[in-house]
Parts: sequence; C-alpha cells; structure tokens
Amino acid sequence: MKLAFWKKSDDTAGQVDFGRLPRHIAVILDGNGRWAQRRGLPRTAGHKVGSETFRTIATYCRDIGIAYLTVYAFSTENWRRPQDEVDTIMSLLKRYLLEAIDTMERDNVRLRFMGDMTPLSVELRELVDRCNAISDRLTGCLCSICINYGGRAEIVHGARAFAKDCVAGAVKPEDLTEEMFENYLYSAGIPSPDLLIRPGGELRLSNFLLWQCAYTEIYVTDVLWPDFSKEELHRAIASYQRRDRRFGGVKR
Ligand code: FPP
Repeated sequence: MKLAFWKKSDDTAGQVDFGRLPRHIAVILDGNGRWAQRRGLPRTAGHKVGSETFRTIATYCRDIGIAYLTVYAFSTENWRRPQDEVDTIMSLLKRYLLEAIDTMERDNVRLRFMGDMTPLSVELRELVDRCNAISDRLTGCLCSICINYGGRAEIVHGARAFAKDCVAGAVKPEDLTEEMFENYLYSAGIPSPDLLIRPGGELRLSNFLLWQCAYTEIYVTDVLWPDFSKEELHRAIASYQRRDRRFGGVKR
C-alpha cells in the first residue's frame, strides 16, 4: 500500500508494508537522561527534547493510521527522582495536555490516561478530566499516556475492583475469565499491544503493561528516546512485520 508520507529517498519507509501495520504500538520513553548527560546538559533537558520527540512520533503514528499508541511517561517508581526532575516532567505533561485540549478535536485524536492520578496536582488532574471529556466525543486514534503507572499496581487495582464487585454480589469469583479481568484494567477496551518499542537499549519491561504484553513483539534499540525518529519507527515496524506471531501455537 502506497502512502503520501513516503519519501523516495527514505529507504526505511520502503521496508514497511503500510497496509499491514500493527494496530497498537506501545513505547517506553527511555534514554532522556543519558541523552542529556552525553551532551553535558541537565537530565531535564533530555525530558524536554523527549517530549518534542513524543509529539513528532504521536503525530506520525496518527498520520499513517496506527489505531492505538500507548506510552510510558512516568512510573510509580519515578517519584524517587530528584524533585526538579519530577517537576520538569509534570510541567511538560501539563504543557502537552494544554496543547492537546486545543487540538485533539481538530485532529480527532483521543487521549486516555493509565495509572493512579490521585497524587498528581489538582491542576494536572483537571486537565486530565478535560482531555477525557473531549475524547468521549471523538472516534480517532487513541493515545494512552501512562502516568504514575505500574503494571503490578494496575493488576492489583483490577483485582481489588473485581473483589468489590464480588462482595456487592454483581459477579462470582468462579465466573472470572481472562477476558472479563481485562475489563478491570486501566486498558479496558483497548487491544493488547502488537509491538512494544524500547529505546535506550535496556532489555527489560520495567513494570510496563505486564498483563497486556503477554504476546507482544518487543523491539529494543540503542537509540535514545530524544533521538528516536520516523526512520527508527519504520525500522521497528519492519522488524515487527518480519516476525512470525504464533501466540503459543504452531505455524500452519
Ligand atoms: C525515562 O528516561 C523517561 C522518563 C522517566 C520521563 C519521560 C517523560 C517525558 C518525555 C516528558 C513528557 C511526556 C509526554 C508524553 C508529553 P530516563 O530519564 O530514565 O533516561 P535514562 O535511562 O537515560 O536515565
């Protein structure tokens, strides 16, 4: 399938079959700190450039027709970072949400937030609520931003909600299936990621989408997130398209 976004000179786009794209891409936004340190800059400079990279990649995913994009912006463990770094990440999120409120309707991009929002500032929580309300009216590409998110915490949160429904008599423990439990997760209604991209070279999941990534194809690159480009995304998708997904079965 040919797309207008193809540039003849860009050989990485030529490696991608745009008619067979992953439906859901998840990304761990890693390597911001190292990117900055290698340039003698404060770590916060890496987060600033990283948030620009996020804008570029999210827009491109929307343009080529990726239906779901989920990014790990702030983990339950990231609160342990120096206060100025936490503050910078929160202010970058705030800036992004303020911009999104102005543009998501025009672009038909929905935003969703996964994680426990209670420790966030009142201002940030209000922006999250406004984005959710706008998203409810839209139908387009769904971008999920994980904030104060942890995969284990998400499963515990879901188990607690299910237990409450049991106590209330709405469901019975023996009725629980994997499909039903998915409705108790932050990602309810979103298909599992087909492709997980990890820039920054680390070979671990870091507590990201533990339930959802059971059969997700993983692409790790040494490229640091601020340097991540459309070309690198093409490489990740092309790698995914070469994989043989069997979901525990055998090739027929
Ligand atoms: C991990 O890199 C990155 C983070 C903890 C923060 C990511 C947040 C942003 C890019 C800002 C806002 C996000 C959005 C979606 C607008 P690291 O600091 O752990 O890098 P390192 O491994 O090189 O130290």
